[in-house]
Parts: sequence; C-alpha cells; structure tokens
Amino acid sequence: MKIIGSFPKTRLRRLRKSGWLRNLISENNISQNDLVLPIFIRDGRNKIDTIKSMPGIRRYTIDKLPIILKQVKNFKIPMVALFPYTPNKKKDNSGSEALNPNNLICKGIRLIKKKFPEIGVMCDVALDPYTSHGHDGVIINKKIDNDETIKILEKQALLQAQMGCDVIAPSDMMDGRVGVIRKILDKNNFTDVCILSYAVKYASNFYGPFRDAVGTKSKLKTSKKTYQMDFRNSSEVFREVGLDIKEGADIVMVKPGLIYLDIISKIKKNFNVPVMAYQVSGEYSLIKNAIKKKLLDESSIIESITSFKRAGACAIVTYFALDIAKKIKLSN
Ligand code: PBG
Repeated sequence: MKIIGSFPKTRLRRLRKSGWLRNLISENNISQNDLVLPIFIRDGRNKIDTIKSMPGIRRYTIDKLPIILKQVKNFKIPMVALFPYTPNKKKDNSGSEALNPNNLICKGIRLIKKKFPEIGVMCDVALDPYTSHGHDGVIINKKIDNDETIKILEKQALLQAQMGCDVIAPSDMMDGRVGVIRKILDKNNFTDVCILSYAVKYASNFYGPFRDAVGTKSKLKTSKKTYQMDFRNSSEVFREVGLDIKEGADIVMVKPGLIYLDIISKIKKNFNVPVMAYQVSGEYSLIKNAIKKKLLDESSIIESITSFKRAGACAIVTYFALDIAKKIKLSN
C-alpha cells in the first residue's frame, strides 16, 4: 500500500484529539448483539456454586437458572451456550447420558424455550461431559473411534433439536460429523436449526478452567491431540472450514480466541460465512485474575473483545458477556 501524505500537512493525531471524534471514526464497536454467554448447569436443587478456577462464574441447578437468564434477557444478549456438570455416577465409556432426554442440557433447553423464548440456545455436541474418561468420543481399542462416535453425536444433536435447541454446535472435532448432523436434522424436519461448527478447535492448554467447571479435568488422562488441531499449524484450517461448510455448517467457530486472531482473520478473508470466536476459560481467568489483583484495568475486557471484531468475528462467546453488556448499558 502506498503511503499518502506527509508531515507537517498530514497529522494523524488530528483525528484523535477528542472523544466525540474518536467515536465518530471508530471502526469496531461492541454491542450486546456481539455476545454469547456460556452457562454451566449442575444437578440437584436450589444450589449455585462457584468454580475455583473461574472467579465470578457459577454453576446453577435448573431451578436457579432463571436468575442468570433474567439478566441475559434484560441486557438483550442474543444467545446462551449451555454446558453440563454431570455427576460421576452418570458417566460411562460411551457417554450414554448424552442421549438421556432428561439430562441437564435437555432440561435447560426446555426451561429456556418455555420461560425465555426470546433467548437463543446453543448446545455443544460432544461427549466429554458424559464420558468416564473425559474424551469427546468413544474409546475403542484404546483409540477415540471417529465413526462410532459420530453415530452417537448424530443422536445427541437430534435430541437437542427435539428439545428446542436453536443452534447445534459440534465441538468434538470428529471428521464428518457436520454432514451426518445436517442430514439427520433435515430428515426430521429441523431444517431451520442452525449448525455452528467448531471447525477450528486447537488442542489448547487454555481449556483448563473449563474442564474444571464441567468436571472432566480429573478424568482426562491423555491429551486430545489425536482429534483437536496442532497449534503449530494454520494452513490446515482451510480444509477444516471448507469441509464443514460443504457438509452444511452455517457458522464456523475458532477456538481458542485471543491467541488465534491470525486464524480468524484468515478464515474471514477466504470464506463468506459468519465466523465466531470463543474467548475460552483460560483467557477469561487470566484477565479476570489480573483485574482482581489490580494488574489490569476493567477496560481490558472490552479491548480484548474488540480485537476479535477487528480480526473479523461477528460474535464472541465469552464468560465476560454479562459484564460487558452491563458496561455498554451504563455508557449509553
Ligand atoms: C468440549 C469443550 C471444551 C470447551 C468447550 N467445549 C473443552 C475441551 O475440548 O476440552 C472449552 C471451553 C473453554 O475453555 O472455555 N468439547
């Protein structure tokens, strides 16, 4: 690109001199419409517990969910993502609890669609919250078996759609799962149910606090590197995203977020589908703890979220969603 102009005629500081002018020329502004709030659900009644590795985040029993959902509604956050903390006794090798129409996720979807129909619901399709080994698929002969797993994921996705889930989000990284899910949804007349594919999901160290939150950390004895992507690679994302779009993905997700902004921007430039980013638990806890210790100012939250928009994401899944929405409302 040719540089136009020169000092002293050109002074770039001229456009930065006052707040109103900076606002006027700003390119990326965060609104509540850009946010998705993940919510953790636990079993039992009348309980809200804290999560040690994720300060400020809680797990809710179904009867307590309205407390957080009312806030989501008031602050007009378009969608929530549900994650279950499954009791140990319900976990097995094939994650069969995923197919129980009365599991925590199914109950959560039904509650939202009945009492808060204006809130969009997104659900993970993957077996890790339900397996005794914490992996996203079934283990057969000591391997995560791709083709056996997608047979279960297909059923899990259909069940979620039947409960009223609006956005089915496979986060398992098995090959071919988007295709089978789109097929089963269409066959059952769920042609309007969206697929948000975690097309690009790296085997990341930044998922630690989440695994604590859903109770898979202590179960997981081996890494997820045989199915999640190698963080040394980036050209592979074109195949991952391309295949998922071909198989029927409506939206694609990049995960983790902040340390993969290069990937978001590459995808946005090369594909014309909406791209979303997941600011994952490790990123959340790093920023949150630094704010608590007064090492960072609260405004770092909006700065971090804005970087996703600059990179090309249309929305961000973030544990900060409510904090941000409150802040936006206050400043309007
Ligand atoms: C599981 C899943 C993970 C996250 C979302 N869905 C963790 C994993 O793959 O181990 C991570 C979210 C976060 O860290 O906030 N399929």
